[in-house]
Amino acid sequence: MAKVTIDDITIEVPDGTTILQAARMIDEKYGTHTAPPTMCYYSKLKTTGGYCRTCIVSVTQGSEKDPRPMPKPVASCRTNVMDGMVVKNNTSPELLEARAGVVEFLLINHPLDCPVCDQAGECHLQDLSYENGDEGSRFQFPKRVYEPIDIGDKVKLNMNRCIMCYRCVKVCDQITDNRVHGMLYRGADSEISTYIEKAIDNDFSGNVIDVCPVGALTDRTFRFKSRVWFTKPVDAHRNCETEGCTGKVRLWFKGDDVLRVTSRKDQWGEAESFICNTCRFEKKNANDWVMEGPSKISHHSVINQNHYELQQIKLGIKRQIKHLTGVKIDLGEGALNPNNIQK
Ligand code: SF4
Ligand code: FES
Repeated sequence: MAKVTIDDITIEVPDGTTILQAARMIDEKYGTHTAPPTMCYYSKLKTTGGYCRTCIVSVTQGSEKDPRPMPKPVASCRTNVMDGMVVKNNTSPELLEARAGVVEFLLINHPLDCPVCDQAGECHLQDLSYENGDEGSRFQFPKRVYEPIDIGDKVKLNMNRCIMCYRCVKVCDQITDNRVHGMLYRGADSEISTYIEKAIDNDFSGNVIDVCPVGALTDRTFRFKSRVWFTKPVDAHRNCETEGCTGKVRLWFKGDDVLRVTSRKDQWGEAESFICNTCRFEKKNANDWVMEGPSKISHHSVINQNHYELQQIKLGIKRQIKHLTGVKIDLGEGALNPNNIQK
């Protein structure tokens, strides 16, 4: 076991735990928000993480035995804890500034087409830039532009929006039958390849839509039917006969119509379990399902009322205080939420 302190909270975790997993354990145990954001790590898929750098943290003490700090921020999803390690995430203004730089990089080639993007409202990059980014960009060159591609009859690929997180590649590699993973070209020319097209016949290929953190892979059966915040998410299940599918899904209703079916997302925005294409694309009738009740929406989601306005006010105040005093102030969770009545 190893003792690690993250943002002044100490926890004991098994050896081999990453800093990110330890931070998530702290949040689950104490209801705090110490876990750094992630754009490429996905706990349900192997070998994810290490691509996007959103989850960087500052290690101010390497371990009990060797207390030297690590010289630069490290990717918490790929760095294991050591006994006596001390880590700063939200409590380090320098680290938050570095993360804002990462967000700026991620947005370099990402179009600002949220008003017409189907993922708006549940896009992790949208949330990330609101919560961790700075306004404006220093990038003055033309962005990469691709024509949208239909990958089979159910999935649409908008390469313009891809942030190269490799999650869809891992899905195709790990939960579909054939080894069809791949990214074409290198560096600024990288693009998700037609390898995915080969996976589209597989029962589980629709999961690329759920793992994509942005609007690069979207559901063609749902596109432009409704903004996500006008739909009502309800948890439901059915007896699915596809091997490996739990049949536990989230239905998105508009009135009495099921507009789309997705996997259920946990508090980290990850699918609780992967679902098959039959459940996802062919069961759009409410009678196909046993209803369980309204879905619990994560605090990260813009579907949560007041999420954006209050986040922006809170960030603005924090930045002002930081500029004036050089000290980062923690206003406390929900401090500005008018629904949080002090008792
Ligand atoms: S298409 Fe989506 S899931 Fe695939 S690499 Fe790009 S951003 Fe990631
Ligand atoms: S989430 Fe750790 S590098 Fe992307």
